[in-house]
Amino acid sequence: MATSSYQIEGGNSNSDWWEWEKAGKADNESGKACDYWNRYKEYHDMLEELGVKVFRNSIEWSRIEPEEGKFSEEAIRHYREILQDLKNRNIKTQTTLWWWTSPIWFQKKYGFHKKDSIEIFARYAEKVTKEIGDLIDIFTVLNEPMVPLGQGFLGGVFPPGYKNPFKFLGAVNNMAKAYKKSYKIIHEIKPNAKVGISYLYNWYESEGFGILLNTINRIAQWFRIGLLGKKIKGYQDYIGVNYYRLGKIKFEFGRFGMDSRNQKYFGFSIEEDKDNVMKWISYPKGIYFVLKEASEKFKLPIYITENGVPTREGIDDEERIKFIKEHLKFVNKAIEEGVDIRGYNFWSLMDNLEWLYGYEPKFGLIEMDYENIRYEKRKSFYEYAKICKNNAVELG
Ligand code: BGC
Repeated sequence: MATSSYQIEGGNSNSDWWEWEKAGKADNESGKACDYWNRYKEYHDMLEELGVKVFRNSIEWSRIEPEEGKFSEEAIRHYREILQDLKNRNIKTQTTLWWWTSPIWFQKKYGFHKKDSIEIFARYAEKVTKEIGDLIDIFTVLNEPMVPLGQGFLGGVFPPGYKNPFKFLGAVNNMAKAYKKSYKIIHEIKPNAKVGISYLYNWYESEGFGILLNTINRIAQWFRIGLLGKKIKGYQDYIGVNYYRLGKIKFEFGRFGMDSRNQKYFGFSIEEDKDNVMKWISYPKGIYFVLKEASEKFKLPIYITENGVPTREGIDDEERIKFIKEHLKFVNKAIEEGVDIRGYNFWSLMDNLEWLYGYEPKFGLIEMDYENIRYEKRKSFYEYAKICKNNAVELG
């Protein structure tokens, strides 16, 4: 089961995303979010009820190091309590060190386009490993780095808000180096640690204009995975795959410029499913293609670190149930054909802050009432619990 700290914890005023929201650059301010920071035990009760074996979560750098070089003992203690609580319940932790957000001081003074970021990030990774690492079963150093780098340095819609290809390439390079350094440090401290990265690994294919569009699809995939992936070759103990949807690139003549929030780029755009709240095209078979491709390309064990579907308020939980079952069917097909898949994490336990889109899309097995911090288990929650209990899916 997967969640990320900034999206659920609430109240993190040291984070660059907090500033971004306050400046009105996202649809909602996160506020208390799910108040996981204070109520983590209630959510862990639900994980236990579901019967999941692993919880994918993350640590907020801006809580651990709210001021440059000054680490917060209190935040470290709190994260230890959270992870210890999971251990007490026999739930393993797959913990991410950087999930898109950075401390405000880092973003103001440095940013990943500056070389200093390598040492500064590695120092944070070292601190977390030394202080909390004994409670982490699987380390994911970075989550989908190309999303915030693309959106933050080319698209201008994530912090730090640049639209500058040179800064972008610098940031990709530095982040790859920061990753490699952290990988080595974690292994020095915990020689048997499993350390890796999660990629946004959707499936891209198009009909019509076959070869041309498919070439563009391959370039898009290279941009999302290969560009950074090549630089960190040999420094991954596993591959984390986040699979959500089909990306179908199409021509959109007459459109110039870039609208990265809506995925429209210089004459091309991604096809949309008008019925989906985020316009995403669900494509269960795509997870099978992705798993086969990742296994051949990387020759490493695979963790499915995210898979989920955004729905609308209240009405389409049935869609989520169908989504889970169909995707697991194709995961099973990949396993039967020999792909080494070690885990499956559904996104997400509860509805949470969907970055620029705020609270509108619902990804949770649990429905949130953010105003009163109340929650209700959806039907999909019970279906998921059945799957965990039987370690099998009943297909309708
Ligand atoms: C990200 C999450 C996000 C989810 C749904 C993933 O790409 O890791 O942070 O909420 O997709 O968009």
